[in-house]
Amino acid sequence: MTSQPLHLLSDSLTAFLGPYLPPSPPSDRVFVTLTYAASLDSRIALGRGLRTQLSGPESKCMTHYLRAHHDAILVGVNTVLADNPGLNCRYRVAGKSPSEASPRPIIIDPTFRCKLSAGSKVMLAASSKEGKEPWILVSAEWHAAVSPSDLAHIQSIESTGARVIPVKGLQSDNRNESWAAILKLLKERSIRSLMVEGGAQVINDLLLAAVQDGDGTKVSPVDVIIITIAPVYLGKNGVEVSPASALDYLYDIKWEPFGRDVVMASFNRKARAVS
Ligand SMILES: NC(=O)c1ccc[n+]([C@@H]2O[C@H](COP(=O)([O-])OP(=O)(O)OC[C@H]3O[C@@H](n4cnc5c(N)ncnc54)[C@H](OP(=O)(O)O)[C@@H]3O)[C@@H](O)[C@H]2O)c1
Repeated sequence: MTSQPLHLLSDSLTAFLGPYLPPSPPSDRVFVTLTYAASLDSRIALGRGLRTQLSGPESKCMTHYLRAHHDAILVGVNTVLADNPGLNCRYRVAGKSPSEASPRPIIIDPTFRCKLSAGSKVMLAASSKEGKEPWILVSAEWHAAVSPSDLAHIQSIESTGARVIPVKGLQSDNRNESWAAILKLLKERSIRSLMVEGGAQVINDLLLAAVQDGDGTKVSPVDVIIITIAPVYLGKNGVEVSPASALDYLYDIKWEPFGRDVVMASFNRKARAVS
């Protein structure tokens, strides 16, 4: 896999993003950035399972710049099935190889539907040292009863350095338990900054999730929200981001044109304070 490095962002655009990047040095918990590209009618794809390019070159470059600033990048399994994404970083970072600059790809896939192969882009990126090997989070219940054919598949992709990790509490129908379990696991594995890119179910769930803070308060796991808005309509069959009733959420909101797109960056009022 050979992909072209992306052009550098201008100083004014990196200055715009600077305040929203994960803290350095990292805090003692997982800092979560939610980021995606949407149409004017809040759709992120033309239809379920359809790969839809929304970002223009400048905002695409921003996505890779953000990837370079996070330890890990997370998507849901339907995004892997629809888009076959590479989940690596093509923004060149001085002193780092493409693999070192890339975040760890993480796929939420409770019943291992993604069926990655050596030809999947995320695997190709890792084997060509342009990215890291993915971690696939499956439910502990599914893993405990894994079939011989799935076990053989797991062994084959793990032989390349990928990992299939059973997570207790990972289930689509309990977003709070699920996100608490994911963040606990990532923290145990030294991930301190996580960029969540989609798809719609992951975004909608994450915006409404509440996890327990150290003192028992319920807080949102999302620290920062960065949304690219592209000047297109995708229509009513599009995959919609519309999290029930979320948002008195946002503060320190800034908007910036990125080529033909506009990017909104903000903090989340309901997040835990960064220590
Ligand atoms: N424009 C953008 O920026 C952007 C970015 C990414 C994706 N997309 C688009 O989004 C579409 C896919 O979105 P989608 O809503 O269909 O799917 P998705 O969010 O990618 O994946 C949803 C699946 O992931 C698993 N999952 C998600 N959250 C979970 C949780 N908290 N706990 C346990 N399992 C969880 C579930 O798998 P199970 O069903 O197996 O339980 C669920 O069905 C694609 O068309 C893609 O092109 C757009």
